[in-house]
This record gives sequence, structure tokens and C-alpha cells, in this order.
Amino acid sequence: MLNGKKILLGITGSIAAYKSVYLVRLLIKAGAEVKVIMTPSAKDFVSPLTLSTLSHNPVLTDLFDQQSWSNHVMLGRWADIMLIAPLSCNTLSKIATGQCDNLLLAVYLSATCPVAIAPAMDEDMWQHPATKENLKKLGSFGNKIIPVEKGDLASGLYGEGRMAEPETIIEFINTNFFLTSPLQGKKAIVTAGPTYEPLDPVRFIGNYSSGKMGLAIAKELHERGADVTLILGPSSLEFSANGLSVIYVNTAAEMYDASNEAFDKADIAVMAAAVADYSPVVTAKEKIKKNDQHLTIELTKTKDILKSLGEKKKKEQVLVGFALETENEKENAISKLKRKNADMIVLNSLKDAGAGFKKDTNKVTIFEKGGQEFSFPVKSKEDVAKDIVDTIIRLYYA
Ligand code: CTP
Repeated sequence: MLNGKKILLGITGSIAAYKSVYLVRLLIKAGAEVKVIMTPSAKDFVSPLTLSTLSHNPVLTDLFDQQSWSNHVMLGRWADIMLIAPLSCNTLSKIATGQCDNLLLAVYLSATCPVAIAPAMDEDMWQHPATKENLKKLGSFGNKIIPVEKGDLASGLYGEGRMAEPETIIEFINTNFFLTSPLQGKKAIVTAGPTYEPLDPVRFIGNYSSGKMGLAIAKELHERGADVTLILGPSSLEFSANGLSVIYVNTAAEMYDASNEAFDKADIAVMAAAVADYSPVVTAKEKIKKNDQHLTIELTKTKDILKSLGEKKKKEQVLVGFALETENEKENAISKLKRKNADMIVLNSLKDAGAGFKKDTNKVTIFEKGGQEFSFPVKSKEDVAKDIVDTIIRLYYA
């Protein structure tokens, strides 16, 4: 996967720089083209001569030498990825605040390629809130952070903060940047959130769905390479679309139309929305005034989106529904799977602690049409989304 890839390796002043020598060797062995940039203090830890010999390229350290100027913009454009390993606490804080007093920092600031960083420091520095804040900032810039490891530290202490081993760094880069996803080129639609069925201009019938589960699934499908359209009911979730196409709808009827239109071109459809089953027959034009009588509202059944997609589903399309049950969970979920002609039903039971509306966690069991059943423990909704997408890939795209 690394074969032919251009890697710009930044090395900063940390004792872990000795591991970068081996990292360069592994990158070259894997067929990558490597250019090394060092901060001035990195040269105190490893020799540029060793690194230039191993990388087959001159090592760059200065913005200027006596004769010429290093083109930091072109270096950032040359690379497929920029990897800073080790990233010292000092350079971390400079990057987080956009400082630019050496070549490595100038290249980082002008790099248009993705960036991965492998921090290395003593545990106390690693645990400091300033470090955590700086890392959070790098995450918000879109940089990928390679987790530190626990072990013997330069201080002689034992703890967290060791730079990841070179083999782990290589694996991280492959998985995060160069692995072709089985969902590459696939189109997916995901419904999420509640629907609101208007009674009058100021009232509606709705439900407590937050849309978190559906949004997590949409993001996960996108991360695995799918082109995702999220059809989102009136959720109050704050989120950044970040590559998702979002269609905002309010009512079950609007969600039905948007889903049916998008489904024709979709390979995968995940119906995670909590769609209202009934809608008022009449929506009053003016606000309904109270009087001394009971108020009876006549409701009509909404169209079942999942069922309508199941009826027209082609053989190669994958259709996933949800079931929220409070009793006879398994029987109801399997009957829903068959009735709606879905390929998979994700069951959440309200009897399970940690599952349901408005929570950050969920506990699901997946039933697929071939009769297999997969149960998962309580997890964050993001991790549940990973399990659901993994199951889709394993069953239909592996
Ligand atoms: N669904 C839908 N359109 C509707 C209603 C539900 O697409 N009008 C989808 C949901 O998005 C979910 C699944 O169907 O994927 C849930 O099925 P449903 O039969 O509505 O489950 P419950 O709401 O639990 O209904 P029931 O009262 O039958 O248990």
C-alpha cells in the first residue's frame, strides 16, 4: 500500500527520534519515497547523515542556507502525507499556535496533504491540560493523531507518552490513508432523527429521537468511502456535514419522498429515523384555540418508508432497518425484517440500560435475512455505528 507513496517525515527533538531511523528504513522497504525534515534540536538526537543515507534523499533542516532558500510550499505539495514522528511537546505547542520559526513548521503550515503526528513525551507532560488542549486543536485541524504507548520513558519512569513503535506507525498510516475501502464508490442513504407532524402552525406530533445514531452511521459509512446522503428530520443535533450531503425534512411524507427519490441510485439504505406512524388528517391553518370540550384529533397512517423501499429493492441493494421494541423483541424484529423485505434489522430494546433515545450509548442486536444474529454489548453510538457498518461490509461487500 505504501509502494510509490511520497512521505514527508518530520523529526523533532525527542529521545524517540532514534526510532525514526528504523521508521525510515521500514518506509523505504515498503516502497515509499521519503524526504526527511528535522528541527534544529532533532539533530542533537540523530544524525542527518544516517537519515539521508537511509532515505536516499538530502535531509532538510533550515529555511535558508548561505546560498539558497528551501521551498517549503513545494515540499508540502510533493508529499502524499506528512508524518511528524516523533512530535515533541515543544513542536506540538508551536504547531497548535501556528508558529513558524523553522523549516518543519513552515512546511507543516503550508502542507496541503494530510498530516499524521506521533507524539512522544514524558507522562507528566503528556497528562498536562495544555498538551491535551494542543492535541485537541490538531484534531480540529484534521490531523490524525497516532496514539502514544505505555512503557519505559526517557525520565526512567514508567507510564504513558512513548511514541508508537515504527511498525504501529506504518500500520496506522496504511489504515488511515492508503487502504482502499470496500465502500469506495458506493452510494448510501441514511435517514435519521424524528419527524414532526404538524397539528397547526405552532404544534406538532413528534418523538424524542435525537438523530445521533443515524448521524453516527452516516459518518461511519462516509469514513469507509461511501458517498452518503443523510435525510435528516428536525433534530436539534449540532454537527458539521463534513462531506455528507444533507437533505433536511420535517414530516414523514417529506422523508418518504426524499428517501424514495434517493433510493433508486443507492447501493445501501439505512433507515435509522424514528418516523411518525400517524399524522393528523387535517393541519389547522390557524392555531387551534382551546375550549371547554375534549379535543379529538383524527390521525391517519403515514406511509412506511422502509417497507416502500423493500418493495422495490433490487437484488444488489442493501436495505437496513431499525426496530425499537419493548416486548417480544426478537420475534418482533424478525417479523419486521420479513414484513419489510429488509436485509438487516438492527434491534434496540428499551429494556436494555444504555439503549434508546437521547442517550450517547446504545446496545443492539442485528438480525439478517439469512437467519444469522449478531449481539453487541453497550457501546457509544459511534462504536455501534462501526459494528453496523462492519456487519454490512462483512455480509455484502467482503
Ligand atoms: N419506518 C419507516 N417509515 C415509517 C415508520 C417506520 O421507514 N413510516 C422505519 C424506521 O425508520 C425503522 C423501522 O421502520 O427502520 C421501524 O419499524 P416500525 O414498524 O415503525 O417500528 P416501530 O416504530 O417500532 O413500529 P411498531 O409499532 O410496528 O413496533
